[in-house]
Amino acid sequence: MSTTASAPGKVYLFGEHAVVYGEPAVPCAIERRASVTVEARADDRLRVSADDLSLDGFTVEYSGSSDERPDVDVPTPLIEAAFGYVDAAVAQARDAADAPDAGFNVEIESDIPLGAGLGSSAAVAVAGIAAATAELGCDLDAREIAERAYQVEYDVQAGQASRADTFCSAMGGAVRVEGDECRTLDTPDLPFVVGYDGTSHDTGELVSGVRKLKDEYDFANDTVAAIGDLVRQGEDALTDGDLAELGRLMNFNHGLLAALGVSGRSLDNMVWAARDGGALGAKLTGAGGGGCIVALDSERGTKTALSLTPDCTRAFRAELAQDGVRVE
Ligand code: MEV
Repeated sequence: MSTTASAPGKVYLFGEHAVVYGEPAVPCAIERRASVTVEARADDRLRVSADDLSLDGFTVEYSGSSDERPDVDVPTPLIEAAFGYVDAAVAQARDAADAPDAGFNVEIESDIPLGAGLGSSAAVAVAGIAAATAELGCDLDAREIAERAYQVEYDVQAGQASRADTFCSAMGGAVRVEGDECRTLDTPDLPFVVGYDGTSHDTGELVSGVRKLKDEYDFANDTVAAIGDLVRQGEDALTDGDLAELGRLMNFNHGLLAALGVSGRSLDNMVWAARDGGALGAKLTGAGGGGCIVALDSERGTKTALSLTPDCTRAFRAELAQDGVRVE
């Protein structure tokens, strides 16, 4: 017997990075999912195969218990990081089900590019915990899965994580996260377009960079607080269904993230291409450095404009995913 669970990726309408320091953020789940299939083993070992964890696709396997490192060549540090999330997710499932010696074969499939700002690690952690606990006959609700998935990110990212990505992936839809207060939001239709530069980033490094800036410069603390103010204004615009104001606030949010040093040339170029193409607003999404931008597009010209931008390797519409984690 085996069990499969899936969970969506996300874009940030507002608030990444600042959310790590207790400011509110509004991530939105999108219709791109990671699926994790687990099969209980007779021993206590873990065998993970990952297929297509990047948009380019690859397959790799390793065997080991959760406290051993993979014993095969790992193609990139990012994939090693993905295995770290799986290890930690399995540890959470063993703990939840009170089954410390449970072993699994784990298969991951994902159409969320790794380390690109679309919440791939959160989706893998959420789906992994859901699949492994269900396989062990332990029923967790989405909030419990979210909390355990947050512990996974917190451990793997050395204590530098907020609950935003994992809560959003577990619950689906648009959510608001401020510290440990997490709730779902009703939103108008949000016509998102994503532009992807084909690169990836290390979330932990980018979060550390912002922390250092905050330690050294008052402006960085003020910038984080300003992002929080802007998120609160964004909530009013969401309630009013005011897409034009949401777009303006996204543009401001991008500028503030750039001031914190987490944008980059390709992200800036894609943001400007989206705005030139008629987007109401555009900003980087996630940790930054490289990866994805998200644009709010009512004119429907943004995707074409992004497709014609040399820095953009892929542009796609991203529907809001109403379903969060799901045992298939
Ligand atoms: C990464 O997707 C979002 C950050 O705010 C980190 C976090 O919230 O854990 C940069």
